[in-house]
Amino acid sequence: MRILIYTGKGGVGKTSVAAATALRAARMGHRTMLMSTDAAHSVSDSLEVPLSGKITNVEENLDAMEVDMLYELETRWKEVQGYITNFMLSQGMDGITSKEMAVLPGMELMSALFYVEDFYKNSTYDLVVMDTAPTGETLRLLSFPEVSEWYSERLYKMLKNMLKLARMTVGRMVDTPLPSDELLRDLEDLSARMRRVQTILTDPEVTSIRLVVNPEKMVINETKRAFTYFCLYGLTVDGLVVNRLYPEDSDGYFKDKLEEQRKYMKVIDESFSPLRLMTSYQQPVELVGIESLKKLGDMVFGDLDPIVPLSLDKPMEMYTEGDFDVVSIKLPFIMKEDVKLFKTADSLLVEVGHYRRSVTLPVSFAKKEPVKAEFKEGRLLIKFKEGS
Ligand SMILES: Nc1ncnc2c1ncn2[C@@H]1O[C@H](COP(=O)(O)OP(=O)(O)OP(=O)(O)O)[C@@H](O)[C@H]1O
Ligand SMILES: [Mg+2]
Repeated sequence: MRILIYTGKGGVGKTSVAAATALRAARMGHRTMLMSTDAAHSVSDSLEVPLSGKITNVEENLDAMEVDMLYELETRWKEVQGYITNFMLSQGMDGITSKEMAVLPGMELMSALFYVEDFYKNSTYDLVVMDTAPTGETLRLLSFPEVSEWYSERLYKMLKNMLKLARMTVGRMVDTPLPSDELLRDLEDLSARMRRVQTILTDPEVTSIRLVVNPEKMVINETKRAFTYFCLYGLTVDGLVVNRLYPEDSDGYFKDKLEEQRKYMKVIDESFSPLRLMTSYQQPVELVGIESLKKLGDMVFGDLDPIVPLSLDKPMEMYTEGDFDVVSIKLPFIMKEDVKLFKTADSLLVEVGHYRRSVTLPVSFAKKEPVKAEFKEGRLLIKFKEGS
């Protein structure tokens, strides 16, 4: 099974391109699932087919769903939600607020990834296309390859803090519900599943991130940052869709716009090379409905089959070279000065901007000391050597 995750700045055309991709793949004979993980779902509007949190068949080979948090809360997150709700209620909060508070950040995407893991395990589909929220949000959530630890740690911490808070505010232990064994088992189960999800996400034969951009300065800049961070987290970006190009014959009123787009197209070419570029033109009318999406798919992919990975480049590699053990991380668009490195007993912390990745080192590395870090061809090389 292949997974394509579309992301990009708000409004660039992620949903349209994701839907067009899924439609095209289905019509080429691949069993395809189009899944929306953006809380502000619009896949249904794009396809002009009613969808819900349950799987709906759209046409032959094409299913779609919009992950529904309320439904997920009542099913998958029942234990967690039940506990938090009861807890809030015991603190005197009203029912509705308690329920609202039980929605934790990331649950939506986590739920989606659990579906993906199920599909993967059961070979339900040949391809899952994911339409996600704008970059910032998606990055925050997808960018935790160590999701399991991060997430369960936060949940545990939250549960612990809540107990502490109860003691402080009430001054004594009232009927504060304690987390049940079942809940704790659930959390453990969650961690294990998330580790499996991580393996799937960081395998370029399975998962490819595709960035959608428009030829505009702000969009390009945000996309460059996103590209860097995806690399940092070991996710393979295999292509870039430049949407909303103005046709060459749209002079007159759009003459300046056309000129501007040519300039930014050059910037995109130079910046993202050798990443595979695909393009699509601004249509005279809003792009909705199966027929429009089919046209968009033809424009973007030409003769290409969207399921085929366009790059198997692994952003993170570890290898031995002479006396050194080397960790190599692809980090485009940044300078050595932008990176901070720390080593702990068994991991390497790499900090770029506001993002931090903790790389668990193999035992052989962990005993060594990092002695050198250098940039070579867009990759950060951190060299380890036996300490004296
Ligand atoms: N090439 C195009 N030509 C004409 N209209 C387009 C094109 N691409 C996208 N649109 C329209 O632009 C609007 C935004 O597109 P879309 O919803 O796909 O973007 P998005 O990146 O998913 O947005 P959001 O960040 O809000 O999720 C939609 O109305 C869509 O039909
Ligand atoms: Mg969208």
